[in-house]
Amino acid sequence: MITELGRLIARRIALTGPISTADFMAEALGHPRLGYYRRALPVGAAGDFTTAPEISQMFGELIGAWLAERWLSIGAPSPVRLIELGPGRGTLMADALRATRGVPGFHAALRLHLVETNVPLRAEQHRTLGASAPAWHERFGEVPPGPALIVANEFFDALPVRQFQKTAQGWRERMVGVAPDGGSLVFALAPGATPFARYLPDAPEGAQAEIGEAGRALAAAIGARLLRDGGWALIVDYGYDSGAGASLQAVRGHRGASILDRPGETDLSAHVDFAALAASAKAPTFGPIAQGDFLRRLGILQRAESLKARANESQRAAIDAALARLIDPDQMGTLFRVLAVGDGRSSLPAGFSEAE
Ligand SMILES: C[S@@+](CC[C@H](N)C(=O)[O-])C[C@H]1O[C@@H](n2cnc3c(N)ncnc32)[C@H](O)[C@@H]1O
Repeated sequence: MITELGRLIARRIALTGPISTADFMAEALGHPRLGYYRRALPVGAAGDFTTAPEISQMFGELIGAWLAERWLSIGAPSPVRLIELGPGRGTLMADALRATRGVPGFHAALRLHLVETNVPLRAEQHRTLGASAPAWHERFGEVPPGPALIVANEFFDALPVRQFQKTAQGWRERMVGVAPDGGSLVFALAPGATPFARYLPDAPEGAQAEIGEAGRALAAAIGARLLRDGGWALIVDYGYDSGAGASLQAVRGHRGASILDRPGETDLSAHVDFAALAASAKAPTFGPIAQGDFLRRLGILQRAESLKARANESQRAAIDAALARLIDPDQMGTLFRVLAVGDGRSSLPAGFSEAE
């Protein structure tokens, strides 16, 4: 089925030629009126996918404790900007704020900033977080200066990536064009050499690779801000520590879908290249480490026990199931990675060790 946005993209390609997968992703997710992240309510059981904070309150609570500890480590500045990138339904932040109510002075110092493009989600965030008087922003760069605590869960995976394939003639960029029928969108390799070849590894014919310029630019902006104004960032996402093939994927209604079909109605995401983010930040980084290790070190097993002590039998089973989803290696425990970015002026963050 061709969506209205699919027709607009096909018309653009007919006029100006094939576009990169990054441009396609930017249109499909970010088109001001029809983009998936502008209009859909994607997160949660009724949406297209579920995220860690929606699985259990423990996730947001432990991240809240991590953020409060980092605030203390930088000398408890007041005010401090607490910035969430892509807060979804506001669940992570609501759990983080509830868990840190008892930290003296923390809430009085906080100024909450939510970077969110999706209008229906902003309304949800208003319901969950309105009492903390958040300021909303379209872009990270709009948040006013000052010491900052930044958190991003499943945000970087939504940022556009270019794709490449190694041919006998060298690396070629994978483009999105229009089929001869004039309507449907198709993949095709660009015939000429790509200027991105110098950033791509030596690889055998047939190898595939991705470069996410938007993610790298955002990591650079985060690193520069932290070095200038002080603070910490915590980035959690599925991805790889370094090097991977083509990971761009489509999900609709909790199932895999075709990337090019129904743009605007389908979630598109790519695995996050954590090595590229860490290098782009140009600031001290820790990790990436496995989400399961990070949450265990922050005490998720103890937190689960204390919740279970006050729960009935079915609630106890639900807590165990959520715990397994968050930390088991065959669920989110290993695929999801955690990277911390710091200002170089404060101690080692909880959950990480010197070697990581
Ligand atoms: C996969 S959801 C994750 C939501 C939430 N962090 C969670 O864990 O449940 C991605 C979030 O980022 C927002 N988003 C996606 N692309 C964005 C962009 N370019 N700028 C700002 N927000 C964006 C989405 O609307 C959504 O809130």
